[in-house]
Amino acid sequence: MSVSEVWPEPPYAIHTARLTLRCYERADVAAAHPVIVANAAALAPWLPWVAREPIALEERAAQLRAIRGRFDLGEDFVYGAFLRASGQYVGGAGLHARVGPRALEIGYWLAQDAWGQGLGTELAGALTRVGFERLGALRMEIRVAPANERSLAIPRKLGYTEEGTLRGALAYEGRPDRQDLVVFGMMLGELAASPAARGELELEGFAP
Ligand SMILES: CC(C)(COP(=O)(O)OP(=O)(O)OC[C@H]1O[C@@H](n2cnc3c(N)ncnc32)[C@H](O)[C@@H]1OP(=O)(O)O)[C@@H](O)C(=O)NCCC(=O)NCCS
Repeated sequence: MSVSEVWPEPPYAIHTARLTLRCYERADVAAAHPVIVANAAALAPWLPWVAREPIALEERAAQLRAIRGRFDLGEDFVYGAFLRASGQYVGGAGLHARVGPRALEIGYWLAQDAWGQGLGTELAGALTRVGFERLGALRMEIRVAPANERSLAIPRKLGYTEEGTLRGALAYEGRPDRQDLVVFGMMLGELAASPAARGELELEGFAP
């Protein structure tokens, strides 16, 4: 069964107090490419896909086009993250339908010069709400390497429950070692009382 049979239309743009998350467009390639390349070393310890960086601009275009294709088909929802005030490209985030029926995993990364301002928490909180309130998820998940202190702080601040550690769950292309992942979960009934429920949120669908 394809995911598009399960998930309703995702928001194409998500506005928080300081960020806009939106589905990638052709015009984003030129802005996103240098930011991803410049931040590859900072992201590489935590994100397996970064092992292939730096890639060429043409490959970036194909990568973002494929991401966009999966978004439109309802298979996987990856957003570019932009500062709301200036439109500056500062990172990426996603809702991934790979953790079972009616459950979504949130992923995120930011350019290093945007770290330490609460933006990661802001975007993950917004995606938590989108998953529950818009897409009808019953469970949201965030998986983090045990040494990734900055990222561990995010689900903790949002009121997720630390449920356990999956041993060797994360594999990096071309490397024999595997990383453990701490699993954080939130159930639908826990959203309202959680810090994730607070904060500004405006959604735009595909239709105008
Ligand atoms: C994870 C990431 C998105 C965090 O973004 P951010 O905007 O800096 O996150 P926030 O500011 O919302 O929260 C970070 C928290 O970590 C805390 N923190 C920062 N450095 C820390 C450290 N060395 N040890 C422990 N906690 C630390 C901060 O104090 C903050 O918590 P606080 O608000 O309670 O003070 C960013 O660091 C990143 O892109 N990392 C690389 C990619 C990555 O790891 N992605 C996640 C994979 S699971």
